[in-house]
Amino acid sequence: MKLSPSLLSADFSRLLDEALSVEPLVDRFHWDVMDGHFVPNLTFGPPVVNALRSKLRIPFDIHLMIDHPEAYAPQFVTQPDDVILFHIETQPDPSRMFDIISECETRCGITLKPGTALEAIEPYLDRVSMVLVMSVEPGFGGQAFLPESLSRIRSLKKLIGTRDIEISIDGGINAETIGPVAQAGANIAVAGSAIFGMPDRTAAIQRLREACL
Ligand code: DX5
Ligand code: ZN
Repeated sequence: MKLSPSLLSADFSRLLDEALSVEPLVDRFHWDVMDGHFVPNLTFGPPVVNALRSKLRIPFDIHLMIDHPEAYAPQFVTQPDDVILFHIETQPDPSRMFDIISECETRCGITLKPGTALEAIEPYLDRVSMVLVMSVEPGFGGQAFLPESLSRIRSLKKLIGTRDIEISIDGGINAETIGPVAQAGANIAVAGSAIFGMPDRTAAIQRLREACL
C-alpha cells in the first residue's frame, strides 16, 4: 500500500517543512485544491502547489475539487509521475479534460463523490492511470470513513480488470480503516489527519504501515 499524505491537514504556515518532515517515509503527496464552489471550502491553487513542486522529490496527486478544472489543470507545473485528478461530476463530457491533461505530459486520474455511481466513470477507464474513490464527502479533512466505500473499491477493482490503474482511497483513513481498504484492493491510501494531525508523524506512519501487514 502506498501512502499519500494530504497536506490539507498540515500547518499551512510551514507547508514545506511539514512536507519535508514526512517525505522520506511516504510515497506521494496529496494536494486538495478547493474552490469554494464545487466544495464549500477554499484551499490553495497552482501558485502554492507549483512553488512546492520544485522543493520535493516524490510525485504529487493533485486532487481538483473545483468547477472548470479544464481552466486550471494546465496551470500546474507537473512532473511525469504526478497525477492530475478531476471530478467526473464537473464534466458531462470529460474527453476535453483527458486531452488537456495529456498535454500537461502528466498522468491523468479521475475521481468521484461517494454518491456518484461507479458507472459514471466506467466508460473512461481506458484513459486514466488512477481512480480516486472518495470515502467522505469532499471538502474537509477529519471526517469519518464511509463504510460502503469498501464495497465500492471491490466493485471498482472488478471494473478495472486487467487494466493498469491504481486505486486510491481518500477520506477517513487511519490505523483502523487502512487495513480493510488494503484488503478490498486499494493501492494508495490518502491520509490527512491520521498523519499531520498526530504529534509524532513517524510513529503515525509506522502504525498505518503496520496496519496493512
Ligand atoms: C477531503 C479531501 C481529503 C482530506 C482527507 O475533501 O479530499 O484528501 O484531506 O483528510 P482525512 O485523512 O483527515 O480524512
Ligand atoms: Zn483529497
